[in-house]
Amino acid sequence: MAEIVYGPAGPADAGEILTLQRAAYVVEAQLYDDPHLPALTQTLDELTAELAEDHSVKAVLGHRIVGAVRGKLDGPVLRIGRLVVAPDQQGRGVGTRLLAAIEAAADGRAEWFALFTGHLSDGNIRLYQRAGYAETHREQIRLDLTLVHLMKEHR
Ligand SMILES: CC(C)(COP(=O)(O)OP(=O)(O)OC[C@H]1O[C@@H](n2cnc3c(N)ncnc32)[C@H](O)[C@@H]1OP(=O)(O)O)[C@@H](O)C(=O)NCCC(=O)NCCS
Repeated sequence: MAEIVYGPAGPADAGEILTLQRAAYVVEAQLYDDPHLPALTQTLDELTAELAEDHSVKAVLGHRIVGAVRGKLDGPVLRIGRLVVAPDQQGRGVGTRLLAAIEAAADGRAEWFALFTGHLSDGNIRLYQRAGYAETHREQIRLDLTLVHLMKEHR
């Protein structure tokens, strides 16, 4: 069986990552009963610009991109977001490895890693806690949606 290879993503990957992002975030849209989550409404141009500017990592299986993640440096903090894995490849450690890879991509430039997820996304919170992240605070952005913010110190 082909191995998954992790490496930098760039603007040329935008089309494929947009498709992957939309497929992966459908379960989150169902969980929060909101088809307009930012990850689902992001345009190709916005995503292309992010891939040009931010640190990005993709997971490639054969000819397919099966996962991706992005990180933006904000002073000493790497703000990590849009961690996505293709639905058929989930539950095999790809998300965990992508998280480790984006942390490594900013090695030497980040003192802290920060990310957030929704309060109903138990699996995401478990994944982040297993990777060493601890909750810093909660931010209610709608009556039915609270963001759980987590951080980890670079060691
Ligand atoms: C969140 C997301 C990226 C996780 O990706 P993933 O590849 O499934 O993550 P992992 O495989 O590393 O971990 C998921 C589960 O599989 C388990 N797992 C990991 N490797 C495994 C293996 N080899 N065999 C069996 N189970 C395994 C993990 O323990 C974890 O179990 P848990 O949910 O019971 O805690 C993915 O679910 C996704 O794309 N979700 C939609 C988008 C989203 O919500 N992104 C995050 C926004 S904050």
